[in-house]
Amino acid sequence: MTERLVIRRPDDWHVHLRDGAMLEAVVAYTARQFSRAIIMPNLAPPVTTAEAAGAYRQRILAAAGKGTDFTPLMTCYLTDTLDPGEVERGHASGVFTACKLYPANATTNSSYGVTDIQNIYPVLDVMQRIGMPLLVHGEVTDSDIDIFDREAVFIDRVLSKVIADFPDLKVVFEHITTSEAVDFVHAAGANVAATITPHHLHINRNAIFEGGIRPHQYCLPVAKREKHRLALRRAATSGSPKFFLGTDTAPHARSAKESACGCAGIFNAPFALESYAAVFEEEGALDTFEAFASEHGPRFYGLPLNEGQVVLERQEVVVPDHVGPDDANLTPFLAGKSLHWKFIPHTE
Ligand code: NCD
Ligand code: ZN
Repeated sequence: MTERLVIRRPDDWHVHLRDGAMLEAVVAYTARQFSRAIIMPNLAPPVTTAEAAGAYRQRILAAAGKGTDFTPLMTCYLTDTLDPGEVERGHASGVFTACKLYPANATTNSSYGVTDIQNIYPVLDVMQRIGMPLLVHGEVTDSDIDIFDREAVFIDRVLSKVIADFPDLKVVFEHITTSEAVDFVHAAGANVAATITPHHLHINRNAIFEGGIRPHQYCLPVAKREKHRLALRRAATSGSPKFFLGTDTAPHARSAKESACGCAGIFNAPFALESYAAVFEEEGALDTFEAFASEHGPRFYGLPLNEGQVVLERQEVVVPDHVGPDDANLTPFLAGKSLHWKFIPHTE
């Protein structure tokens, strides 16, 4: 039995760090496990200019603290009226790594999102030309489409068209949840990849209703049937360079989750690597874990692989019920459960 996993330092390609007190409370969890993270721009108001992204990056670095070896990679929130010149300048100056497409009203703080994909075609044109990745929240928002079908319908109605119209655009289909998404990414060119979260590898939709309503298992895109979870597990552990680590850690205060209308988002940063390692071990695929966590992402983004290593040691860890400054603010993913790996921070 493997007792110790030593892997190249990993990155997290999909993170919500928020701002203000919440940023202060959560940034260390991501910064201790990951070298770089793609920072989602769905603040209120959203990050739509290079200036705002630069200022947000400074706040993240300040919250992470001096001496922390952590690089936030910033993204631009696409709106119907965004100037393609702003995207191009922001990318050229090194502030924007990628752009994020939220269909309007698809999820938390997405009301400024895109109402019709045609509205951002001039931006996509620029992004294709300069090799800047488009990160996609892939769900239609039509209320007449069943919530469990919204990702599959998005592929048919929107994503297939974007890829046909921009054949060289780099696209990351974020937090995929369905076998349809897995099949779509496999069938597309090398310029199309996907992130997979730990929670979609661990839970299916039953978890949201297990003995009562479970707000801490609720996120968007919502977890699907078991057959989809199994398809995601096969994709993540396959060794295909098209699939890589993106936690979609999305903290909301307990009061906002445990509510009559609870927010979508699962806070998985505190035990992110341990929870992925559990899946790879269950699948008998620890040999592909390092590539998923530390190689496929940077290669897709065209960034260097990290130096240094992190270690996971076989040891039982129990996920606490609550974490955060007052010990009662946030409920982590898998609260109360045991994991069998302990994370040891990186060494040079
Ligand atoms: C995210 C959030 O809270 O910002 N929520 C979620 O359920 N994943 C937004 C998102 O990525 O959809
Ligand atoms: Zn997200």
